Amino acid sequence: MKKNIIYNDDCINILNTKIDKGSIDLVFADPPYNLSGNGLKWQGSKTGGDWYMVNEHWDKMTAPEYLQFTRKWIGTCHKILKNTGSIYIACSYHNIGEVMIVLKQLDFKINNIITWYKTNAMPNMTRRVFTHATEFVIWAVKGSGWTFNYKKVKEINPEKQKDGTEKQMRDFWELPLVQGKERVRGKDGKALHPTQKPEEMLKRIILASSNKGDIVLDPFLGSGTTAVVAQKYGRKWIGIEKEKQYFKIAENRLKN
Ligand SMILES: C[S@@+](CC[C@H](N)C(=O)[O-])C[C@H]1O[C@@H](n2cnc3c(N)ncnc32)[C@H](O)[C@@H]1O
Repeated sequence: MKKNIIYNDDCINILNTKIDKGSIDLVFADPPYNLSGNGLKWQGSKTGGDWYMVNEHWDKMTAPEYLQFTRKWIGTCHKILKNTGSIYIACSYHNIGEVMIVLKQLDFKINNIITWYKTNAMPNMTRRVFTHATEFVIWAVKGSGWTFNYKKVKEINPEKQKDGTEKQMRDFWELPLVQGKERVRGKDGKALHPTQKPEEMLKRIILASSNKGDIVLDPFLGSGTTAVVAQKYGRKWIGIEKEKQYFKIAENRLKN
């Protein structure tokens, strides 16, 4: 099985044909949330620049199609994970229901639902609901021997006790949406991927639930965040991304 490689293909196909069963230590998956809508946009925002609602063809399914898609990809991830392996799945209020149902049907054990509080979340355009400022990361495991590097997690926790000593990390992570130098942008300054995840999020997940030399797999690699962070911390990695334009961005990001 090849490692440190990005496949430009459908993840279900690659998971079924190129990845050995029971071989992967950690899966991080940031799937389509099925939230794409009408291309709502807000140009000229004084705080964060122009804002566009996610509106991608790979993110539009009917409700039954989305449940079936979720079953298929989580089912194939179950097969390629080691019995001691972990899967972390990013989601929002749009798709947490489907993801949880499928994890439970596959007999995964849910260890945590981490709340990501987006400190620079965009205001709500409709003014008819509370501002959406959170997403979630579900941590689920197959068996009982999962990896949790408790000491390392305490060490990297930016929150400290009142006396300055280390503190256990909570399942509530305050992290801004990716901006500044970390955001991968084109020559026109526009973000090249609509849903790039913060490297700090992947750092916490990878350091918590894998060890040096372990294999980390991301079936929806996007701009390549998981591979970049896995490489940085001495893990082997495998990424899968269906769209050529994002595959190329991830490749370039890794070269740099
Ligand atoms: C939410 S984004 C992931 C973003 C990524 N975490 C990052 O930091 O850039 C989901 C990605 O999955 C890709 N995708 C959608 N369906 C796919 C499939 N069936 N197989 C592989 N990739 C897929 C999309 O093109 C998109 O880039």
